[in-house]
Amino acid sequence: MALWSRMLRTLLSGYGARRGGTCSWAFSSWRAHPPLAGPLSPTGLASHWTEVFKKRGIPEARESSEYIVAHVLGAKTFQTLRPGLRTQPLTPQQLQSVQELCSRRLQRMPVQYILGEWDFQGLCLKMAPPVFIPRPETEELVEWVLEEVARRPCAVQARGGPLVLDVGCGSGAVSLSLLSQLPESQVIAVDKGDAAVSLTCENARRLRLQDRIRVLPLDVTLGGSWTHLLSWGPVDLVVSNPPYVFHQDMEQLAPEIRSYEDPAALDGGEQGMDVITRILTLAPWLLKDSGSIFLEVDPRHPELVGSWLQSRPDLHLSLVAVRRDFCGRLRFLHIQRSGP
Ligand SMILES: C[S@@+](CC[C@H](N)C(=O)[O-])C[C@H]1O[C@@H](n2cnc3c(N)ncnc32)[C@H](O)[C@@H]1O
Repeated sequence: MALWSRMLRTLLSGYGARRGGTCSWAFSSWRAHPPLAGPLSPTGLASHWTEVFKKRGIPEARESSEYIVAHVLGAKTFQTLRPGLRTQPLTPQQLQSVQELCSRRLQRMPVQYILGEWDFQGLCLKMAPPVFIPRPETEELVEWVLEEVARRPCAVQARGGPLVLDVGCGSGAVSLSLLSQLPESQVIAVDKGDAAVSLTCENARRLRLQDRIRVLPLDVTLGGSWTHLLSWGPVDLVVSNPPYVFHQDMEQLAPEIRSYEDPAALDGGEQGMDVITRILTLAPWLLKDSGSIFLEVDPRHPELVGSWLQSRPDLHLSLVAVRRDFCGRLRFLHIQRSGP
């Protein structure tokens, strides 16, 4: 996993908890920070904005200011700034850019949207609100899928490479990282959001992966909408990081999430299961006999999904493995076809 995406993990991973403050005070108070005195080096400027962010209660103050200063100077991280640059005063234009970007952070905009790009599995993806920002945990979902393909190539891989269905592709993070690491694979990526469909297409073109992906606007909860997926034949794998937040927990999400990301990317209904159960209901129609489903879920879901599957023996699906994320929470499910 890329270091710079790990560094901001606490803000967005697990969708973060609300940590004090609201957008309204941040909007009105950003101009009240102390004025900058004299020529400032990147180090001085990053420290200045770290203090401003801390005073305003902005989470991850140091990381936020360093990412922004580094971005304006053309680097990905502060640590990778050329040593000579770190002590050189910024130009008035650069100072102005830092000021503008930091004012967005004071409005609780996530750093990923401010920078307009973010790394996922070593790929640099364009980010644009309100399309969901890929989280570091999802890199672990991708790693599990890759492990499984490597471990059981015959079971999960068609001749020439697996055909994968990614439900809820967002920015294309899961689809494109699988394509880039499985050179023979092909992906069908679907999302109900037009902005997500466009961003996945754009990221596929930027990464020159567009020839092996089909991106479709599709709401899997709408009856019959999925039937034309069958025209590509059964798939080896269904992979999804679906909306799985319990509806009553939506209010507890951090301001960064509530104000900027599409609620449809997060809200999974009363028990966070609306899209999950839809995927599981459709999967037997879409999967090959030996096919597998890999899902990212809430820690309460392994038990809920296990019970739900037992109540639906007609689907012939079994929960075969559950994995923890880097925080030790049970977050990933492997479900297999187990019958006719
Ligand atoms: C949690 S985001 C995951 C995005 C991306 N896969 C990732 O991991 O970064 C869930 C995505 O599912 C999409 N989505 C939500 N409900 C859907 C539905 N009923 N049918 C298809 N896509 C849906 C959302 O628009 C959103 O892009």
